[in-house]
Amino acid sequence: MLSLSIVSFVLASNILFTYAAGAKIAAGYFPGWLTLDAVTPILGGTNVSWEKYTKLTYAFALTTEDPSQLSLDLSAEAFLPTFVEEAHNNNVAASLSIGGWTGSEFWSTAVGSSENRTTFVKTITDLVSKYDLDGVDFDWLYPNRQGLGCNIVNENDTANFLEFLKELRSDSVGSRLNLSAAVSITPFNGPDGNPSSDVSEFANYLDYITLVNYDIWGSWSSAVGPNAPLNDSCAAAADQQGSAVSGVKQWSDAGFPVNQIVLGVPTYGHSFSVSASDAFVNDSTTVLAAYPLFNTSVFPSGDSWDITSGTIDACGNSENNGGDWDFWAIVNAGLYDEDGECASGTLCRFDDCSKTSYIYLEDQQVMISFDDPQSWTAKGEFISDEGLAGFAVWQVGGDHNDLLLDAIRTGAGF
Ligand SMILES: *[C@@H]1O[C@H](CO)[C@@H](O)[C@H](O)[C@H]1NC(C)=O
Ligand SMILES: *[C@@H]1O[C@H](CO)[C@@H](O)[C@H](O)[C@H]1NC(C)=O
Ligand SMILES: *[C@@H]1O[C@H](CO)[C@@H](O)[C@H](O)[C@H]1NC(C)=O
Ligand SMILES: *[C@@H]1O[C@H](CO)[C@@H](O)[C@H](O)[C@H]1NC(C)=O
Ligand SMILES: *[C@@H]1O[C@H](CO)[C@@H](O)[C@H](O)[C@H]1NC(C)=O
Ligand SMILES: *[C@@H]1O[C@H](CO)[C@@H](O)[C@H](O)[C@H]1NC(C)=O
Ligand SMILES: *[C@@H]1O[C@H](CO)[C@@H](O)[C@H](O)[C@H]1NC(C)=O
Repeated sequence: MLSLSIVSFVLASNILFTYAAGAKIAAGYFPGWLTLDAVTPILGGTNVSWEKYTKLTYAFALTTEDPSQLSLDLSAEAFLPTFVEEAHNNNVAASLSIGGWTGSEFWSTAVGSSENRTTFVKTITDLVSKYDLDGVDFDWLYPNRQGLGCNIVNENDTANFLEFLKELRSDSVGSRLNLSAAVSITPFNGPDGNPSSDVSEFANYLDYITLVNYDIWGSWSSAVGPNAPLNDSCAAAADQQGSAVSGVKQWSDAGFPVNQIVLGVPTYGHSFSVSASDAFVNDSTTVLAAYPLFNTSVFPSGDSWDITSGTIDACGNSENNGGDWDFWAIVNAGLYDEDGECASGTLCRFDDCSKTSYIYLEDQQVMISFDDPQSWTAKGEFISDEGLAGFAVWQVGGDHNDLLLDAIRTGAGF
C-alpha cells in the first residue's frame, strides 16, 4: 500500500501540468428523487462530498408536450434551491439536467420548429434565472432514435438540436451558462438513422459532452457482459458492443475534440439469472466464466433503490425488475469489503479487457456485472492518458464511503 501511494504521488507530480490542462471536470449527477425517499441516506446533501466535485447536476427536468413547460414532477422541486445553495457554499457549479430516460419523450417537439426552439430557450433561461443555476445539461441520448419506447422521433432531430443550441448561446443568459450534453457512445444520428459523420459544430456551443458509457450490456443482451466496459477492442468480435475506448474514438472520428469529452461512470451494475452450469468454466466450482448465457425470462431484483416489477413507465408499459445493484449495496451485502475489494467467500472475476468486475451469488443463481474501485482507477488513468476533460458520476448516492470516487479522482490526477 505504502509503495503504491508513493508511485502515484511521483507520477502525479511528474505530470502535474498535463493533468491541470487535461482532466478538470469532476462532475456528478444528483437524482432529485433521492430527496423524495424517506430512507435515503443523502437527504439534504449531507453525504455528498462536495469538495471532491467541480460540478453537480440535478436530475431531471422532464420535457413535456408543451415547449413552454419543463416538469420537475419526478424530483423534489422544493429541494432544488437548497441544492443550488449548498453547491455554491461549496464552490461547486450547480447544473440542471433536462431529459433522461423517462424525460426525453418530447425533446424532439421542443426543438422541432423555429417557434418551438425560441419558446424552449425562454423556458430554460427562465428556469436558470429562477434557480440561479450555473449550467444546464441536455440528457437527450437519442436524437432520431428511439429510447423509452414512446419518444417523439424526427429525422431532423440532430440538426434541430444544433439550431436550438445556437439560439440558446445567442441569448444573454444562455451565453454564460455551462452547457453539457449526455450522449450515447455513438454520435447523434443523422437523417438516415445512422450516426453522423461530422458532429464538430456541437463543440462550438457545448462546453463538453458526457459519454454515457453504461448500460452497454444488460437484460436486453445475449449474454452477461460488462455494464460499463473501459475497452472492448481486446474482446472477442461478438463481444465488442462498445466501450469508453470505442466511444471516444467514434466521437473523435466525427470531429468532436477529445478534450471536451467527459467519461460517464456508473456507481451501479446489472444482475442476470445464470445457472451454475453456465456460471463456471468447465470442471471448476470457483472460476467464473466470461460472457455466460443467462435466462432472459427471469428478472432478478436489485437493491432497495431498484425499479420493481409492475412499475408503469411514462409510455404506460409495465416494467420488470431493473436488477440494478448500487456499489453501496454490494458492500452492505458483505460481497465486497470496506477496502473496496472482493470479500473472502465471494465468487468474483475481474475482466481484464473491460476492466469491470463480476460476482456470482451461487445460492440465488445471480451474476452481477459492475464497476469496482479498480475499474474506476483504470478509467481515471484512461481519462488522464487520453486527455479527456474529466468524469461524471451517475450517481452521487451510489458509492460506499467514496471508494469509487476516490479511485477515479486519483487515476485521473485530481
Ligand atoms: C452519512 O453520513 C453520516 C454522518 O457521517 C454517517 O453516519 C452515515 O453512515 C452516512 N451514510 C452513508 C449511507 O454513507
Ligand atoms: C411545436 O410545439 C407544439 C406544442 O406547443 C407541438 O404541437 C408541435 O408538434 C411542435 N412542432 C414540432 C415541429 O415539433
Ligand atoms: C427535414 O429537413 C429537410 C430539409 O430542411 C426537410 O426537407 C424535411 O421535410 C424535414 N423533415 C421533417 C420530418 O421535418
Ligand atoms: C464549464 O465547466 C468546465 C468544468 O468546470 C469548465 O472547464 C468550463 O470553463 C466551464 N465553461 C463555462 C462557459 O463556464
Ligand atoms: C484496448 O484494447 C486494445 C486491443 O487489445 C489495446 O491495443 C488498447 O491499448 C486497449 N486500450 C485501453 C485503454 O485499454
Ligand atoms: C467447455 O467444454 C466444451 C466441450 O469441450 C467446450 O466447447 C467449451 O468451449 C468449454 N468452455 C469453457 C468455458 O472452457
Ligand atoms: C428460465 O426461467 C424460467 C422461469 O423460472 C424457467 O421456466 C425456464 O425453464 C428457465 N430456462 C432455462 C433455459 O433454464
